[in-house]
Parts: sequence; structure tokens; C-alpha cells
Amino acid sequence: MANYKGEDPVLVTRDAKSKVHTFLNMCRHRGNRICRADAGNAPSFMCTYHGWTFATDGKLVGVPGYKEAYFEELDRSQWGLVEARTETYKGLIFANWDPKAPSLIDYLGDYTYWMDMTFDRVAGGTEARGGVWRFAAPANWKFGSDNFGGDNYHTYITHGAGRFLNRAAGGVDNGFNDDPSRVNVSTKHGHQANNAWIGSVVNTRLQTMRPLEMKQYYQDTYAESEKRLGAERAKQITIGPATTFPNMSWTNNMVRVWHPRGPMHTEVWHWCIVDKIMPEHLKKMTVTTLVQGFGPSGNTEQDDGNNFVACTEIGRSPLGARQVVNQPAGLGHEFKSENVPGILSPRIGEGNQRSFYARWQEMMNAPSWDRITIEPRRFSLL
Ligand code: FES
Ligand code: FE
Repeated sequence: MANYKGEDPVLVTRDAKSKVHTFLNMCRHRGNRICRADAGNAPSFMCTYHGWTFATDGKLVGVPGYKEAYFEELDRSQWGLVEARTETYKGLIFANWDPKAPSLIDYLGDYTYWMDMTFDRVAGGTEARGGVWRFAAPANWKFGSDNFGGDNYHTYITHGAGRFLNRAAGGVDNGFNDDPSRVNVSTKHGHQANNAWIGSVVNTRLQTMRPLEMKQYYQDTYAESEKRLGAERAKQITIGPATTFPNMSWTNNMVRVWHPRGPMHTEVWHWCIVDKIMPEHLKKMTVTTLVQGFGPSGNTEQDDGNNFVACTEIGRSPLGARQVVNQPAGLGHEFKSENVPGILSPRIGEGNQRSFYARWQEMMNAPSWDRITIEPRRFSLL
């Protein structure tokens, strides 16, 4: 399937030995795309320009006119596809062009404690449903990443209409006085998650879950979830939104990648995810509900998008671009827990934003992976 890593078009394949590969989606002859399909099966990929053909393991296996035009002098073994190091975690595929980068498991580190709440809650894990949703906005990609990674603060104003409807339907909304045992989490390498419960976990998510058939599903799978994750995480039912640094965001029912298209544009690729063992009608319900909220014209998505666009646009203003913006909420109120990994901060705060941008700055200034510390530098006392 064709996808992107940042601005680089890539092609992800599974070869005849079931090994997953990630290649630059570029014909080694003159640079044409060799795959344009979102998904499918193919024994090989033939470039539509002159017909060079590549196997699913990236080898160049066909060159039209090899004898007549190249006099059999082209060393085909040197012209296979450019490959990234590819690793997987719980069904998610990650790739890195730099052979010196840490392994995926080191890069994710103890953040997997939180990721597993979505991707390993039940046997079989998750699957994507409803295809990939793509939409673009004239906004810098980091606004989406930082928002999903730790911005509960915005929900009271930006998503005020949704909160109003929730209250009108009898839902409880305590505003900023929300449960103080809910926190945001920031772990090594800048990964983040919102809304973890710590301490004496109150199982309110399950109690208030609607519709009732979805609640029933989570009740039915609770025992298994507790066996896999332990009571502390199982009782929370879900966590998120969250951002795996730098640009993969997720919740219990979505994964999205914020692909940069230059500094002023973002192309969002979004998948609905569901537990593989979830009954079919609940899978369909999850897709429908998600479209209404986070589809390209979903209510929540539109609420957010306009803010991201305007925050980016101010960068074109000569005076605006010279101003300093601020993220001090909760500064000095971060803390650690013996029971869970990461640095915890108030859920209505900007601790995760500080972590995200400190990490970004550190990576942008580092000449190589050797110069990047495991623990991100932090604007806090910790
Ligand atoms: Fe692909 Fe020529 S560009 S075969
Ligand atoms: Fe939002």
C-alpha cells in the first residue's frame, strides 16, 4: 500500500516470506511512483513509465530492453528500492530511514504501558475499519499532534457545543473541577496520553458508557482485559487522546497520522480502529459515530480545525511571527508515581505541550541520534 513518511512517499509491502517492508515509493530509473493503491495484493510492482519491475522484497526483477538497450551491462542488484528499517508493534507498522536510530521497542519505551490499553486490551488486538480518511488543512502538523497529546484545556471552549448537548442529554459536566485523579502523561521520547486515572481508580467510564450495547461489550470483555492489563488499567476502559511522538495520534477508536506538507499545511490520514473480536454491528456503529465526530466534516473535527489554521496563519504576520506564545499552565505541578510510567501532570494543563515542544526542539538541534538523550529535557522541576 502507498502511504507517506513525512513528505516522503512510501510503499509498504509484505513479501513472500511474510516480512513487512517499507520502501521509498520511487522507481529507481527516473523516479516515478511505482504504487498508487491504498491497499491490495500484487506479486510485483511495474513502473508505468518504462516498465521497470520490482518484487515485493524491493529487488529490481524486470528491466525492459535489458539486452537491447542496456547490453546486459546494468547491475540490477544495485537498483532495488530504497528501504527503511521496518518494525511492528501490536499490528502498527513503524519505519525509520536511519539505521542508527534506536529500535522501535526502545523508542516506545515504557509508553507501551499506555498504548496497550488500546492496542492490546483483548485477544487479537485491533483492526482498521472503513478505509483511510484523508483531508488537508492549511495548518502546521504540530498543532494536531500537540492537541491530541495533551490539550484538555481547549475542550471547554472549542467543543462547547458538544459539551452543551451532553449536559442537555443529562450528562454530568464538572468543567474544570473534573476528577483530580485524572492526569496527563508524558513519557520518554516525548510520547503522550491524556486522561489516565491514577490512585483509586473510579470506573466511571464504564458506568456512563452509552449506548448500552457498547457498555455491554466492554462489560463482557472486562475480565479478559483485566487479565491482560491488570486491574489498574482495565478499570480505566480507555485512555486518550494520545500522541506517539511525533505525529501519530490515537484513541480507543482511531489512529491518525499528521503528515506535514510544508510548514503551512497538513494532510491527515485517519483510520477508525475497533477490537477485532467486537461484534460486527458494534464495529459499524463505531465507524458511524466516529465519522460524525472526527470525519472531515465531523462536528469535533471542524471545531478544532479552524483554531489550528488560525494559529498557523499568524506565522505569516511579520509582527505576529516575532511574538512569544505561552504554555505555563500547570508548570511546577508535574509529579511522578511509583505505580505508572511517565511524568504526570494536571489534565487541564500544558505539561504535555511543554514536553512535546521541548522534545521537538531537542531533536531539531541534534546532529545525530547519539546526541539525543533518552529523557527529554523538561521545562519543570523534575
Ligand atoms: Fe520507472 Fe522509467 S521511471 S521505468
Ligand atoms: Fe479538540
